[in-house]
Amino acid sequence: MKRLAVFLSGRGSNFEALLEATINSELKGVAQIVVVHSNKPAAGGLNIARAHGIPSVILEPKQFADRPTYETALIEALAPFQCDLVCLAGYMRILSQVFVREYAGRILNIHPSLLPKYPGLHTHEQVLTNRDKEHGATVHFVIDALDAGPKILQSKVSVLPNDTVDELSARVLEKEHILYARAVKWFCEDRLKMDKEKAVLDGKPLLFDNDYNDTDKDIRDDSED
Ligand code: GAR
Repeated sequence: MKRLAVFLSGRGSNFEALLEATINSELKGVAQIVVVHSNKPAAGGLNIARAHGIPSVILEPKQFADRPTYETALIEALAPFQCDLVCLAGYMRILSQVFVREYAGRILNIHPSLLPKYPGLHTHEQVLTNRDKEHGATVHFVIDALDAGPKILQSKVSVLPNDTVDELSARVLEKEHILYARAVKWFCEDRLKMDKEKAVLDGKPLLFDNDYNDTDKDIRDDSED
């Protein structure tokens, strides 16, 4: 079983979906979440960790002189947990070289847009402002540039007339929960790797036509194995 750390800053629905998958579905017997880290002591996701007896590492940036010092302390605090993979799940803090080098090729992130469109914040608002027809979510490997590492999976949703930010983000979130468990499963089964800044599945680079793939197809293909 692979040992996962989940990093979060907020309510933790992606964490909860991963946790649920480790207990009841596709990550059962494949992965266990051994620690949760947050930069926000009040993050709702920490309550989920507490309720399940999962230890948490809470480090507040203001207690540290700078980002490298923060990340060095984080690396030290995580060391005893011997994590194979770090999953960023609504972790609203940029990781620098210090952390990314320590866990090179072993950090995944989920982002609420069809990257490379809309890195950063307020993705749903931008989609609505720009009257895009499609939106979605991306799971990618983390490198030391914001929302820029090699893409692993994407899932699209249609933007509906009169969609609000809440409605659109809820539909994207549903996709996020499916996508993330799928990518984590691949990693934990040693099928997915980052190689020279490419995501490689079963020895073949994952290619994104027109900047994104249709994830539903990936999911179907895999379940027919
Ligand atoms: C999710 O939509 C996630 O994709 C996003 O924050 C939300 C966290 O929700 N992450 C980012 O924007 C990172 N750039 P959650 O706390 O319910 O999982």
